[in-house]
Amino acid sequence: MRTLGEKFFLTTPIYYVNDVPHIGHAYTTIAADVVARYKRLEGYEVSFLTGTDEHGQKVLQAAQELGIQPQEHVDKLHSRFKELWSRLNISNDDFIRTTEERHKSLVRDILQQLYNRKEIYKDSYEGWYCMPDERFWTEKDLVNGNCPECGRKVEKIQEHNYFFKMGQYQDWLKAHIRSNDKFIQPASRRNEVLGFLEKPLGDLCISRPKERLPWGIPLPFDQNYVTYVWFDALINYISVHGSLDDIKKTGFWPANHHLLGKDILTTHAVYWSTMLKAIGLNPALNLFAHGWWTVNGQKMSKSIGNVVEPNKLVDQFGVDAIRYFLLREVPFGMDGDFSHKALIGRINSDLANNLGNLLNRTINMMIRYHDKVVPEPTSLDEDADLKNEFRKGIDNVHKLYDDLTYNKILESIWLLVDITNKYIDKNGPWNLVKSEDGKQRLATVMYNTTECLRVISILIYPFMPQSANTMVKQLGIECSVEDQGLGSLNTWGGVKPGTIVQPGSQLFPRIEDKEAEKILSTIESSAEENKEKSLIAKTEGICDLVLIDEFMKIDLRTGKIIEAEKIKKSKKLLKLKVDIGTEVRQVVAGIAECYEPDQLIDRTIIIVANLKPAKLMGIESQGMLLAASENGKIVLAGFDSEPDKGIRVR
Ligand code: MSP
Repeated sequence: MRTLGEKFFLTTPIYYVNDVPHIGHAYTTIAADVVARYKRLEGYEVSFLTGTDEHGQKVLQAAQELGIQPQEHVDKLHSRFKELWSRLNISNDDFIRTTEERHKSLVRDILQQLYNRKEIYKDSYEGWYCMPDERFWTEKDLVNGNCPECGRKVEKIQEHNYFFKMGQYQDWLKAHIRSNDKFIQPASRRNEVLGFLEKPLGDLCISRPKERLPWGIPLPFDQNYVTYVWFDALINYISVHGSLDDIKKTGFWPANHHLLGKDILTTHAVYWSTMLKAIGLNPALNLFAHGWWTVNGQKMSKSIGNVVEPNKLVDQFGVDAIRYFLLREVPFGMDGDFSHKALIGRINSDLANNLGNLLNRTINMMIRYHDKVVPEPTSLDEDADLKNEFRKGIDNVHKLYDDLTYNKILESIWLLVDITNKYIDKNGPWNLVKSEDGKQRLATVMYNTTECLRVISILIYPFMPQSANTMVKQLGIECSVEDQGLGSLNTWGGVKPGTIVQPGSQLFPRIEDKEAEKILSTIESSAEENKEKSLIAKTEGICDLVLIDEFMKIDLRTGKIIEAEKIKKSKKLLKLKVDIGTEVRQVVAGIAECYEPDQLIDRTIIIVANLKPAKLMGIESQGMLLAASENGKIVLAGFDSEPDKGIRVR
């Protein structure tokens, strides 16, 4: 065990403020929280940082669409992340926003210092620019003429810009990665970065002309430019500690871990490490790139309607079940698939049946056999095997934290849960209570079981802080997990005999089959609704130009609504029968909030007649009707006078 007060600094990426927080964001933040809580238990002084990335093109565009100033926009949006972190019991010590003065002033300072030292220079530049990603690419980077990262169109841009001399650090960076095994984890990602560094490393364009992008931090030496959003954002990891002088004094540098997703490893391993080298600071000790979550095998996307929102999960399953599931289900570093079914499975088996039941039966036996009072063990020498298994388990957990193998940590803890359950079964307190000799042994068994649970509560605490402290309370232990600390795992016997257990509610209630079915079917229908919403929303975006023959491929026709009815369980959808002259089509339309079925009968509308049929809420839709939608109000497209059915509209 280590000395008290040593410093430990770890970070999550700062999230784009425009994004709706989803399980991908929650994943990194929970993973970081687990380490932060564990390190605090160990006695470290921890600084755990998260925050929001608030500059750049996308924020500006979104604010313009809303007709508000970008600052007002980000002031509103950033709190979605703050609120989610508080619901998920994230124990971050600070929350940085890149629009805060403390951040902007350090970005300016670093830029000025690097400029003065000629690490930054101005040059003319011609390249392919991906507007949504805000990144330049060379001709050879492009894939089929499109952005290699997002596949979208790129624009050829020629302009003057400022460059950071990143290329000069290539050899140093390669050597640093090679001589520091744990600098980039997992090893497969480390090899990818080394592979990337086999090609010559160019300099980094770190400015954007203000006339093209006014929403950013102005360069201190040229007000016509703002700072490239990544150069700005990465500095958050030190701006949170103050000035460059401050950070050297705080003891929080180098960061122990930057946790991040695999998609942003290059920016951290290459841009950030070379920036730090130029600034005169050491790189972080560890960059851990985790994998990506898909949902039922698909990428999370609004248009598929499958974005998993952590707030909803917390409402439905409780915060600790989510924290547990995300880190138990998939090895950190690998891609994983999220399914509500798998989540329910884990809640029932690992949490309710194994851990919850262990606590429950222990407390019940304590009530039944010892009148709620934890007995004095008759002998401390008995049950050496049990104590050895626990010692091994605890040591193993400590070791596994070095490589952030969260799933294995949880596996090891659950091995201890199993061992305790088996210890009870083997000793059979229900038989021991029957004889005087047995009662002596019973006292030791009940004491040891309580001590096992105390140890387990401390070990699960970083993952499930709320449940861990509930366990401690139910066991009647006066000291919270935080106050006991990891040091209390060094000796067997932390539970004081005489402690009175406090029966409480089930730690993790089982989700019965019927309820599970109901939950899964509601989730399915809300995914369908989201899909519909997003189909409608898509028509609201600004579209690319199309050629006339492309437009003519869309078969728009007049149709008369002959039947209309509401769809059960859906607030938004109506099922219509539309006569388009040659046939009657079934159309599912998201207009239920603005039209009553009766109002629609005999109305002539326009439908897209050659749209591939799709199922919404399990009902086939054989076309789509045209409507305008503004602020949730939907108005059907129509005509001055009534045309016949089945007329082509152009
Ligand atoms: N703003 C930058 C980071 C700047 S750090 C100096 C950014 N933001 S982000 O909001 O797009 O992404 C933040 C993190 O969320 C990344 O680590 C990314 O990998 C992670 N994820 C986004 N979608 C994800 C999944 N579907 N699954 C797991 N993580 C994912 O990039």
